[in-house]
Order: sequence, then structure tokens, then C-alpha cells
Amino acid sequence: MKKSSKEIRDLFISFWKEEPRNSKEIPSSSLVPQNDSTLLFVNSGMFPLVPYLNGIPHPLGKRIHNIQRCVRTNDIDEVGDNRHLVMFEMIGNWSLGDFDKTNQIPWIMEFFVEKCGLDPFRIFVSVFAGDESAPKDDTAIETWKKVFAKYGIKAEYSDNISKLPKPWNPEEGVPEELKNWKYRIFPYSKKKNWWSRAEVPGEIGGPTSEIFYDMGRVELIQDVYHINDDSGRFIEIGNNVFMEYKLDQEMKWVPLEQKNIDFGGGLERIVLACQNISDPYKTDLFQNIIFKTETLAGKKYELSKSLNLNLEVKSFRVLAEHIRSSVFLLGDGVTPSNKDQGYILRRLIRRMIRHAHLLKIQDNFTKSLANVVIDDYADAYPHLSENREKILEEIEKEEIRFRKTLENGLNNINKLFQKVSQNSQHDISPEHIITKNLDTIYELNGKKLNLGEWAFYFYETYGFPPEMFLEELSSFVNKVSLENYKQAYVKIDDQLVSTIIEKFKYLSEQHRINSKASAEKKFLGGLADTSDETTKLHTAHHLLLAAIQKLLNKDIKQRGSNITSQRLRMDFNFDRKLTQDEIEAIENLVNQKIEESLPVFRLEMPKVEAEKLRAQMEFGQRYPEIVSVYIIGNIKLDKEKYQISEIIEQYDKVFSIEFCAGPHVSNTSKLSEGGKKFKVFEHVSIGANLKRIKAGLISVSK
Ligand code: SER
Repeated sequence: MKKSSKEIRDLFISFWKEEPRNSKEIPSSSLVPQNDSTLLFVNSGMFPLVPYLNGIPHPLGKRIHNIQRCVRTNDIDEVGDNRHLVMFEMIGNWSLGDFDKTNQIPWIMEFFVEKCGLDPFRIFVSVFAGDESAPKDDTAIETWKKVFAKYGIKAEYSDNISKLPKPWNPEEGVPEELKNWKYRIFPYSKKKNWWSRAEVPGEIGGPTSEIFYDMGRVELIQDVYHINDDSGRFIEIGNNVFMEYKLDQEMKWVPLEQKNIDFGGGLERIVLACQNISDPYKTDLFQNIIFKTETLAGKKYELSKSLNLNLEVKSFRVLAEHIRSSVFLLGDGVTPSNKDQGYILRRLIRRMIRHAHLLKIQDNFTKSLANVVIDDYADAYPHLSENREKILEEIEKEEIRFRKTLENGLNNINKLFQKVSQNSQHDISPEHIITKNLDTIYELNGKKLNLGEWAFYFYETYGFPPEMFLEELSSFVNKVSLENYKQAYVKIDDQLVSTIIEKFKYLSEQHRINSKASAEKKFLGGLADTSDETTKLHTAHHLLLAAIQKLLNKDIKQRGSNITSQRLRMDFNFDRKLTQDEIEAIENLVNQKIEESLPVFRLEMPKVEAEKLRAQMEFGQRYPEIVSVYIIGNIKLDKEKYQISEIIEQYDKVFSIEFCAGPHVSNTSKLSEGGKKFKVFEHVSIGANLKRIKAGLISVSK
């Protein structure tokens, strides 16, 4: 029996809980990172665990596991093929300085083979080849040999990564050649087999050993085949990171005191392997969404030889992927906007609406599709159904807003492209649209602009993201080609695409209207750093929230935060802008608490106790049963053995108390080192009920 995605989730969670692993499950964190300066979204299971991988003790111990919702935005435009997803679930387990690879490798293989029912003959692995940072991973090689032997396979290591059996047809079963194949362990260099989020001092990382599953067929022809190529034959189902190194100030990888294991595997791919199909949209993770779309569109989702029908397949996939991603983002409190996370969400929803239009879905549909996602994921992600009303309301609002301009925009874009096709500067032939003059000016409705400027115009006026402009251009030229040459598969030449995008970027940067540029910069980074300055600002952040609550309103909640080594940023709910006097009063109170040299306590306690203490929680976050809490205040407490009642008795001396993973300074006096004082740099309104403060620690002249 093939396993359902629900069964796989449950099996993973219980496998790690069982003896001899005795691991503890932690909840899936919000997709919006807390206190992280550089990434827009949580993009892997280890992300919320960085402080613990760095050595801070985790309240639940040294063995933990979970299934983490993740978003990666680098390939949004690729969505529609059969491999790229924006949102995915990552199954993960961690050893925080506890068991090592000689345990991890056999256990994870046991999970895949004995629990998921994957065929060990179809499994191949990679190991780190060795370089100046770390040696060749002989321990992993030897461990893998033993593990394969347990399943009756005499596996060998080979330096030649293309020593592979011939591709085979999955419908005809596993061939003898594959069953008898020895070479299953291959080395790769840092480029493929070393994991870290970014190359910046302080970042942690290490060599990896990845696990691949042979799907039989080659989907994309390559020059050379190996298990980690792009041919689509092998899919990576898991990555063991031996997180044992840290980048020092000279950018050298040096050993980390705590030797960790960080395992992550994409659930969607594991489901694909378990259900033995090559299209993720045909797995049970997407089936109900596809069925609902079929009903809405009155069409079937089926791959076909006809190009037009395959374009429909793409639209089905874009809808399915983007509705799932959008619901998860909305579920974590993101709303469509022109900035940061909200801008990504807006692009996803708008692209989806455009593809629904292509499928000739006339009525508003996002709510009914979103309901399917919420129902499908109700067991695994109950926060979605808890926030159902808000999710449905927001998604429909954006749909209505965009549909108002969609028809109009499409009519105008069509008129513009008519001019392009009539213009002798551009030839539309069956192969491509040839551009003779990239700066040709087109006149429409009294405006004279080149195509890049038009792309920006359609963004500003009708809210069409630039990729939508290109998608429209491409479908238009295909239509023309089909009419004139009875053929369609026209590619817009690369030079034209880059001219349009360059111009678009230039204009948007100039106008500072959208933050796409800054958003993209963020994707490049990826580090919540734990430098002294950032740690101080993290403590300042707690003082600031407490000061705002004490001076303005105790019910104010933090709605987002971001800390770099230069400044902190906090968003909070409040219905009006603060006055200058109020800002000064806040600064004074924070500075007073710094001068009072208050101790900062880190305590671990059951969640219910922390709630009793009215510890501040982060919006949209779910917490495990045991949490860590930071208290700032002049209280007396033995951190090792204390009673909650002791804290309650001294409550009037507590200034701040928050659920938080840290790290923090041990005493607020550290914030004034170097004669520094807390100062608010900027205060703005970013929504009707949302205000923002940027602040930091600056030197003051005596
Ligand atoms: N951090 C690694 C990854 O994202 C393994 O969890 O692939």
C-alpha cells in the first residue's frame, strides 16, 4: 500500500519519538522570521534553531524533530513545471551536540525503508569529498556501507560520480542491473555537499550527506549524468548536515564546540517517491486542489501533446501551488502589500488570478480554493482553520482589487502588443520574436514609451507584476504565430527580456515604489547573526516593547521585528502615530532601565506557566510545551531551582518578560558600554493600525 502524505507525516513524528531515539517534537514556526535581519521567510527547518545549534541549551533537550513549513522565493517564475514549489514542508531532526552520524545515517535509512516503504535498491547517497575546511568523510562512507549491507546491498564508494546503471522504466519495475549495482556512494565538493545559509562571519555549517531516490526516467537530457544532476532521474529526499563548523572573522571554517546533526527532507518529494509518481500535483498533497480547479474551470488536468492544453496544465499548477503558498502566508499574518513579505504574497495572488483567467474561470474563486487548502491541512496545521475567516477575507479582498483592473489592463496590453506585432522593428516568426531595435517607442493612449517603460506602466497602473507583462507578451506572440504560421512555441529573445527587466528595475528603483529590489537583496543573505551588537539590540528590543506598553497601552503587541547589528526595527499595533513627547518618554524609560543595570534571566518552564506570567508572545507563533522565557528585572531568583510563585511575588520588579529563544546580554548595563544611549531613529505609520519604530544604541558626547 502506498503511504498517504498524512501517514508519512505521522510516521516521521512517531519514529523520532520512539525508543531508542527519544526525540522531542517541536512545533512548526511561523513562516515570518522573528528577529532575523536578512531573510524574508523561514526557508528551512533549522532556521528557527540557529541559537540552539550555536550552543544555547534547548528547553526540550538535545534531540528534537519537527515538520516545518518553509518558503523559498528564488524560483517563483519556474512554478508551473513539475518540480519547483514556493511553499514546501520540511521534515527535520536535530542532534544538538548529542548523537553523531553513525546513529543518524542508520536511523534515517530505517525511516525511509522500513517506515515509508521506499525500495533500498533505488537509494544512492553523496558524501563530502574533503578540502581545506574538512577531511573527506570516511566515517559517513563506512557507515553507509554498513547500512546498505543491512538491506542486502553490497554498496561501494566510487570517485567516478557517473558510474550509474542505465535509466529504466518505472512502470516495468526495478531492473536486475539496478538491484546488483554496487556504486552507490559518491563524493562531491563544497559546492554541492556543504551546507550553510550564507558566507558571513559567525555562520554555522558543515559537510553534508544527501540521499537520492532513483525515479528511473531521465526527464532532461544532460551531457554527463550523476545523482546530483538536473536530469530529474534522481530526486533528493533528504540532507544530513553535519553541522560542526563556524566561519570565523577571516572567513575560515573552524570547528564548532557543539557537534550537531541537522537533517532536512522535502516532504513533497518524499511523498512523490513513496507514491511512485513523477508529478507532485498528482500526489494527495495537491489532488483536492486540482479537483476543485477542474470543477471551477470545467476542464480536466491532463498532460497532452497539444501545446495549448499543456499551457493549461501550467495554469492548473500555478493555481495549485500559489493558492497553497498564499493560504500559508496569510495564515502567518502576512497581508498583500507593496513591501517585503506582502509584496511576494501579492505577486502570488495576482499571478494566480491571471492564470485563472486563462483557464476561463470567470467568477471569484480564491475563497473556494483557499477553503480546500485549509480543510486539507486542518490536521497538520490547525492554525489555518483557526484563522480561516481572516485568510478568506484577505485573499478575496486582493482578488476583488486586482480583478477591477485586470480586464482593463489586459485590453490595453493587448492593444500595445498589436502595435508590437505590426511594427517592422519586431518580427514574430514561428521560432521567436526577433528584436531589431530594443528601444522602439510605442504610442498608446497618448503615451510614448519603450517596452521596459510599458512594463513599469502596467505595474503602476494595473498592478501587473513584470513577469506577468512578459507572460502576456509571450502568450500574445504565440497566438499571432499560431494564426499566421499554424505553429506556436515562440520564445521571446533573451535580449528583449533582459532589456524589459532592466528598464523595469531601473524605473522601480528610481521611483522607490516597490521594494522588489530590496526584497531580492534579502534573499541573497540569510543570517540571524549573534554578534555582540545584535545581541545588545535584541535586549534593547525587549526593553522597548515593555516601555511602549507601560507608557502607551498595556495591550499593544509586537507585530514583526527585525534586528541587525546597526539597528532594531519593531512593528506594533497602535491606532495613531506617537508624538515627539511620547517618543522621548519611551527613550528615557529604556535608558533608565539600562542605567539601573537590571539582570536578564533566561528560564525554562512549561508553556502554561509562562502564560500565567503573562509573558509576551510573538504574533502567529506556536510554542512547544516547554519554552524559554527572558525576564528583565531586579528580582532575586535561583535559576536552577525556583518556583513560579517566587516570580509572581516579585512581579512589580519585573520590567519585561517575553517568550524568546535569545540570545541576550546578561545585564542591561552592557547596552551602555562605550557611553552609548538608546535612541529612536525613525517612527512611521505603515498601516491604519500598525506603527513602526527603528532605534539603536548611539554614542553620546558628554
Ligand atoms: N538545513 C538543511 C537543508 O535545508 C538540512 O535541514 O537542506
